[in-house]
Amino acid sequence: MRAVAVRRGEPGPQLIDVPEPTSESGEALVRTLRVGIDGTDHEVIQGNHGGYPDGEDYQILGHEAVGVVEDPNGTDFDGGDLVVPTVRRPAGEPNEYFERGEPDVAPDGTYLERGIVGAHGYMSEYFTSPEEYLVPVPDEFAETGFLVEPISNSEKSIEYAYASRSAFEWTPDSGLVLGNGPLGLLTLAMLVTHDDFDRAYCLGRRDRPDPTIDIIEKLGATYVDSRETPVDDIPDAHEPIDFVYEATGYAPHAFQTVDALAPNGVAALLGIPGDHTFEIDGGRLHRDIVLQNKALLGSVNSNVRHYEMAKASLAGFPDWLTDELITGVYDPEDAAKAFESGHDVIKTVVEFDTL
Ligand code: NAP
Ligand code: BGC
Ligand code: ZN
Repeated sequence: MRAVAVRRGEPGPQLIDVPEPTSESGEALVRTLRVGIDGTDHEVIQGNHGGYPDGEDYQILGHEAVGVVEDPNGTDFDGGDLVVPTVRRPAGEPNEYFERGEPDVAPDGTYLERGIVGAHGYMSEYFTSPEEYLVPVPDEFAETGFLVEPISNSEKSIEYAYASRSAFEWTPDSGLVLGNGPLGLLTLAMLVTHDDFDRAYCLGRRDRPDPTIDIIEKLGATYVDSRETPVDDIPDAHEPIDFVYEATGYAPHAFQTVDALAPNGVAALLGIPGDHTFEIDGGRLHRDIVLQNKALLGSVNSNVRHYEMAKASLAGFPDWLTDELITGVYDPEDAAKAFESGHDVIKTVVEFDTL
């Protein structure tokens, strides 16, 4: 079957021919429809994050997928069911995190991530998966269901942010998303449809006209250009922010965010930067976090509960949003193009089949 993979010592993603997978007991065989690409895939291709499966000289890419059950193989699924797979799998024997349905909080070394950390991804005509890692989705999600995975990551981080403020009365009304990549824009859409946020902002570094700025403004949010208004100047230029969501992967943003936050505010950091050394006044930031009850929290991955929340968010998005966000749909033969970036590129997908 056709698969899109990286090979050790060779540049860029390429189309390869690999054997079709065989389902083991408890696993269903899934026919892949679409696989989305995000910033993490680029980090994997560059060798900055994740790694090859043990003993293999190639890694099949892709962790944002939607597909159709081809062979239920004794699982509770029926042939033809539309499903979205989760990303993490146990490294070796299942451990307590997987057993309690919370692989997203498993420590490094106890998990693999399909298409990212030590395991093949979903960018192939077929994949297999244990039943418990397949989330059923409605047929209307055949073209957009791959977005359930990234949205679920944001569901988790927003849940964590609220949980961190749950000991007192916290009434956020301003939200700021750092980053106008696909993750930032999806999360902005979640915030503007969230009853709590009266005002939403999204930070980028692009000149107009730009399709991401169009989406930001169509969502009713304010575009902030980081070249004119650095993150720590946002309170002066706009207002102190109750909830900040970081999706740039630009490490200084994590610390500038302390200044952007309102008293009692919370920031969720999701970007995955490489090593980056720079100077900060750690004492001042530490003092401000303490004296203003601010919180910075890291959040990675998600579990099935967050996938269920993400299904509801995706179903609530207007059609124009997913239409404008998905800027390219490519055949596997043209997969290399799906990984190209450019002014008009937001979210691209590789399409193996349609429903
Ligand atoms: P992406 O496509 O690389 O988007 C990052 C965006 O941030 C880009 O649009 C970029 O602008 C913008 N940006 C970078 N530096 C900036 C700066 N200094 N000022 C203003 N804007 C800046 O990636 P993504 O797919 O949206 O994901 C975002 C990050 O989250 C990545 O690091 C990814 O690995 C990570 N991630 C984490 C999780 C998790 O569970 N924690 C889940 C998914 C993704 P330009 O396009 O103009 O360069
Ligand atoms: C994926 C997550 C994964 C994270 C870290 C993200 O792009 O969507 O599922 O846990 O990268 O590898
Ligand atoms: Zn991702």
